Amino acid sequence: MSDDELYQKCLDVLVENDRGSHTIPAPGLYPHQWLWDSCFIAIGQRHYDVTRAQQELKSLLRGQWHNGMLPNMILTRDFIGKQSASFWQSDLSIQSPDDYATSGITQPPMLAEAVVKIGDKLAKDERLTWYKLMYPHILAFHQWLYKERDFDKSGLVSLVHPWESGLDNTPPWMSEIYSHGMPIWIKIIEVTRLDKILTRFRTDTKFALPGERLSTIDGLLLYSMQRKLRRGHYKVNNKKNPTNIAIADINYNCILIRANHHLKTIAKTLNKPLPKNLISQMKKSEESLEQLWDPYTNQYYSKNTNTNKLIKVSSIGALLPLYAGSISRDRAKGLVELLKSNHLFNTDFPVPSVPVNSEWFNERLYWQGPTWINMNWLIIDGLKRYGYIEEAERLSRQSISLVSKSGVSEYFSPRSGRSAGAINFSWTSALTIDLIALNKNS
Ligand code: GLC
Repeated sequence: MSDDELYQKCLDVLVENDRGSHTIPAPGLYPHQWLWDSCFIAIGQRHYDVTRAQQELKSLLRGQWHNGMLPNMILTRDFIGKQSASFWQSDLSIQSPDDYATSGITQPPMLAEAVVKIGDKLAKDERLTWYKLMYPHILAFHQWLYKERDFDKSGLVSLVHPWESGLDNTPPWMSEIYSHGMPIWIKIIEVTRLDKILTRFRTDTKFALPGERLSTIDGLLLYSMQRKLRRGHYKVNNKKNPTNIAIADINYNCILIRANHHLKTIAKTLNKPLPKNLISQMKKSEESLEQLWDPYTNQYYSKNTNTNKLIKVSSIGALLPLYAGSISRDRAKGLVELLKSNHLFNTDFPVPSVPVNSEWFNERLYWQGPTWINMNWLIIDGLKRYGYIEEAERLSRQSISLVSKSGVSEYFSPRSGRSAGAINFSWTSALTIDLIALNKNS
């Protein structure tokens, strides 16, 4: 399939998944609006309809909480949305928006990146109007992250649920969750093998093969963490409750560092000085990223905020400091070596979400091995900024060919390239469009 044909195919998927004000990630499996999905989607839409791309991001603002948090999901208003609303009960928090039911947790801060990428497509006046509209919302979100989630004032923000990382069952999170021990009711379900019966009632496996989704027990563990947060009305105070899992997630903090850079660009364009304390928090984030570096294995990891120990379980997060852009050239060189290593991240259809030498690696299991196009996009962007143009171009071509060969799917086997998860996935479409468009212009 030619790039033009693939571009059109991806555009058709986005039109199909368009729900007017926003785009769903995929029909059936993901019926709501998701935060970082919409950001990636808008990055693709800007190439063929910049007004629609702006609409995609404006629709995210409906869900913003009074305290600035952007929730990872804004729920639909239909029957399924009502079911999800009773699961989340966001109205338990006085901070939740008055007119929309949302989740009670957040997701990676890709908004500033998407806003700037759209800004690049606008004439100067329009760009100023666009930035003026979005700036206070991004500012409030970043301020909320530092106020509520920088528990030890280190500059690194902590997450309280793996859904916030966007990489739901990524090994560093699952290993921490396992080490906390299972709630007794899940233990009973496991011992009595009741999970086999519960599996029959799962709806997600109607849209993707069971071996490509979380196990029922893992799913229950994540649900039980959500229930705990709901019981606390989504007020997270780590000092009062250090038994809660809190992780300074490498993926998340790298995206925040890059988003801070974009927020600075927006503020500068508008001639609005950023609050002084925010500027020093931003600086601290960049410095503290080095706390996540392990000199023994030459890798970055996530950190358990309560124990202050690195979680030395590798994942694709190890490569994300390239995207953050704040690490030294030397460190970046080391990460490019990881990317090129056949024992780690270099496969026939890269980049695997877990290095292939990890005991966790499973080529079809969600965030425990498969290749995801949004991760490739972030790595490509980082490679370019560090001057690894050839490597970036190669990965970009490999990503486009993978989608062309296997379809616009949610994720792919890094070994065979076979598609996995949902089909007609929006961010795969949007970012493929972006990669094709960027290749044409380069
Ligand atoms: C899954 C992914 C998450 C994504 C959501 C909707 O939960 O792990 O990153 O935002 O699906 O696509």
